[in-house]
Amino acid sequence: MDVEQEGTRDSERSESSNGAGPAGRASRARQGHPGQFLRNQWYVIASSAELVPGTPLARTLLAEPILLWRSEGGDVSALADFCPHRYAPLSFGRLDHEGVRCGYHGLKFDGRGRCIDNPHGPIVSTLAVQAFSVVERHGYIWLWMGKQDLVDASRIPDLGFIDERPATAVSQGYLFSKADHRLFEDNIFDLSHVDYLHASALGGGSVTRSKGKVTEGEGGAVRIEWSAEDEVPFPLFKPDLPPGANVDMLMSVEWFPSGVMIHRTQVTPTGTPMEQGFGSWNAHFMMPETARTTHYFFCNTRDYRADDAYHNAARAAHIQEIFGTQDKPIIEAQQLRLGDADLFDREPRLLPTDAASTRARRVYNRMLADEVAAW
Ligand code: FES
Ligand SMILES: [Fe+2]
Repeated sequence: MDVEQEGTRDSERSESSNGAGPAGRASRARQGHPGQFLRNQWYVIASSAELVPGTPLARTLLAEPILLWRSEGGDVSALADFCPHRYAPLSFGRLDHEGVRCGYHGLKFDGRGRCIDNPHGPIVSTLAVQAFSVVERHGYIWLWMGKQDLVDASRIPDLGFIDERPATAVSQGYLFSKADHRLFEDNIFDLSHVDYLHASALGGGSVTRSKGKVTEGEGGAVRIEWSAEDEVPFPLFKPDLPPGANVDMLMSVEWFPSGVMIHRTQVTPTGTPMEQGFGSWNAHFMMPETARTTHYFFCNTRDYRADDAYHNAARAAHIQEIFGTQDKPIIEAQQLRLGDADLFDREPRLLPTDAASTRARRVYNRMLADEVAAW
């Protein structure tokens, strides 16, 4: 259908009236509410395994709807999931080897967000969709949510330990949760919850009895380390220890400001060198879908029974069950009690075990204020 009208076409008018067009509007909308989340960061939006060529994935991150797909050649594209014409979700459209065609009136876009077909008229530069920089690394798809001139893949936290393990010693999991991402980060920072919330599955009192030490590193990273001697091992490790053995234990959690956390636990029979022990090395990704909903990805690796696929699958299911039936319900209930308030607006009575999470929240707020000031 070709509809003639006086003056400019709608698409051209939008360009001349605001001087920017849809891509500019999209980026101004993003710049319109800085301060809710850190933006100049890499965020995990999906696991690599989720993106199968030809099957689009629609997911919201930092309150922005995003459409992802993988080409037959393996490249990943990420576009704002709305059409510049009438804002229909592009995820309602059809994907082919060239890109995605909007399911409403047929505009077609390639993986860089450029319009490559307009059935109703000429292709003009304003018919563009916001495209996001994407890096695939460590088994995940990382999206840059900030300013394009600051894109730097070297700022993705180094999770090389995932790549070094055989597939039979790596398992990925995911939970969607109706709670603030920071409550999930607090949960990993304060592992004393293991002794109570996971008393039968993981706990034993050893974390509560050990002492944590908090340090701040480069780029706002916050780290906490616990060490314990001659302690009762976590039930999870008992089958791989001599019967009745106590352990010396080293645990650490490192947090990076976009909600990536690395959690290590190393145990060794009491009195033997730590290097002779064994343990797990895990990554947690608390990614804000919105201010009060979270995509929680996790990746667990271990250096014992590393070639045991059966153990790997059983352990993955066990962890998924613990996180899903113990952590998630209490954190979502905590969010319900908080309502829309931030935890610190409710003046929580802090304990010594909150040192790391409090430091991380302070770092986050400081970086957010700096980012807003410089935006
Ligand atoms: S909403 Fe009309 S072409 Fe997409
Ligand atoms: Fe937990």
